[in-house]
Amino acid sequence: MRFAVLVSGSGTNLQALLDAEGRGELAPARLVVVVSNRPDVRALDRARAAGKPAITVDHKAFAGREAFERALLAELAIHGVEAVVLAGFMRVLTATFIGAFPQRIVNTHPALLPAFPGTDAAGQALAHGVKLTGMSVHFVDAGVDTGPIIAQRAVRVLPGDDAAALQRRIQAEEHRVLPRVVQALAAGRITCEGRRVLIAPAGASLDDADELL
Ligand code: GAR
Repeated sequence: MRFAVLVSGSGTNLQALLDAEGRGELAPARLVVVVSNRPDVRALDRARAAGKPAITVDHKAFAGREAFERALLAELAIHGVEAVVLAGFMRVLTATFIGAFPQRIVNTHPALLPAFPGTDAAGQALAHGVKLTGMSVHFVDAGVDTGPIIAQRAVRVLPGDDAAALQRRIQAEEHRVLPRVVQALAAGRITCEGRRVLIAPAGASLDDADELL
């Protein structure tokens, strides 16, 4: 499964995928291109350092969402991309883009969805006063962080946490889980029945069957 990673910033989740691939843990998934909607972000340096094509498709250079996505789809087509991983990609994708990769777009989000969608999820969790938050990897649909959930891990909120400290601990979980989800997707072990995500052939959800991840 040839996949792209879409990024907008620092790219620590991208780095986790690159490291996992380097250890031979992603096969049959193969990271073939990294695309950022913002120029000069750290994620692009990480991609280049790993010898991956690193491309900017700057959303500000396009008249609207549709034109931006057409350019994005053209780059992905050039690289023969079959699946897309959103790793800190901070643009909402339209149904047109999503329809090009049915059940082949996953996103990592730093909260236990459906709680705290959108931006600054760690800040939202602190402001709400929850004791547990976490991370979710989910299929992308046309909503904001609303697609079927593939895997989740909880992270405790500690006294004295600020958003940055909490976000760091959440990200440590993302770095563990996201590569395993990508491998499972590539291996054809993930299927979706309505909103319930299952692994074939055992039929266990990823969270029930850690060993399958
Ligand atoms: C990650 O924590 C990811 O979950 C979050 O942005 C961070 C990017 O970090 N995404 C969202 O909040 C999307 N709603 P990274 O660039 O270091 O991987």
